[in-house]
Amino acid sequence: MDSVRIRQMFPDDVPAAAHAEAAAFLEVDRMGRLWNEPEPAPPDEASRRRWIAGMGHHLATDPGGCRVAESDAGEIVGFAVSQNRGGFWYLASYGVVPGLQSKGVGTRLLDAALAHADGRPGMISSSPHPGATRRYRRAGFTMLPEMRMTGRVDRAALPALDGLRDGRRDDLEWMDALDERLRGGGHGPDHVHMLDDLGLRLVVSASPAERPGYVYINEESGHSVLLAAADVETAEKLLWEALAHAHEETVINRITSGNQWAIDVGLDARLDLGQTGYLALRGLPEPVPYLASGHHL
Ligand SMILES: CC(C)(COP(=O)(O)OP(=O)(O)OC[C@H]1O[C@@H](n2cnc3c(N)ncnc32)[C@H](O)[C@@H]1OP(=O)(O)O)[C@@H](O)C(=O)NCCC(=O)NCCS
Repeated sequence: MDSVRIRQMFPDDVPAAAHAEAAAFLEVDRMGRLWNEPEPAPPDEASRRRWIAGMGHHLATDPGGCRVAESDAGEIVGFAVSQNRGGFWYLASYGVVPGLQSKGVGTRLLDAALAHADGRPGMISSSPHPGATRRYRRAGFTMLPEMRMTGRVDRAALPALDGLRDGRRDDLEWMDALDERLRGGGHGPDHVHMLDDLGLRLVVSASPAERPGYVYINEESGHSVLLAAADVETAEKLLWEALAHAHEETVINRITSGNQWAIDVGLDARLDLGQTGYLALRGLPEPVPYLASGHHL
């Protein structure tokens, strides 16, 4: 669509981009709704604010990776927010408003994001939307199905855990080195953002020199957000620690086929296995043991 212009995103664009994001993802939620799930609703004010704050972080850290599609009427009709972290690239958020999909706007946005990557290996947590999966595979990404485990944790199954402690700012250096081993680049400023701005709880291995590993836990929802470890035993302990924080219903997200250990932990906790979306990888092997975060991968 020639009447749509792809340009750099600026801070003033973020509220309009949030509007476009809400419309694009409401459609994804509607497409993926199972018969026994409630009708999806637009994001509430708190999630809208979180998305806007997240975009502020991306714009402050790597503005060149943040693009919008603007109609000739000046409306923001799409966005692609990607970030370079050292030698690693990821796509944090991407959408086109439903009325303008399938007209090539998404291709132009993704091309701009991939030009920003400049050949870096990269990762995307893909929705199951047919437009998204088509775009990513066509752009050369390997599509790994993502599983998830849901349900109520059987608290009687929680093991006694040792060898873990709360994480601190001075853990971030070895955490970045671990990220580098697992996915070709550290989270860098995203660690600081998760710790300080998002207020996630960080739990780490107490012996990071021998058995590095960490997990971020959203204490509000009781879900693990991102988990990385050098070995499966440490990863299992970290996941159990996250499950110990689970409230009523919980979820373990983005389990790829190489991470069967996470399925085993989930089954032991009496969670149910399901499937949704894809981890899309380009230029790097499947990270194991690793459970990617949705936005910071
Ligand atoms: C993914 C998305 C950004 C792509 O934007 P777009 O403007 O539709 O992209 P394009 O038109 O350039 O390309 C999409 C391709 O998928 C196809 N497609 C789009 N929607 C489709 C649908 N509902 N069913 C089947 N194919 C579809 C298009 O025909 C096109 O195919 P082509 O390249 O062979 O012509 C957009 O579809 C979207 O916002 N989806 C919902 C949000 C989402 O899932 N975002 C990705 C998060 S990881």
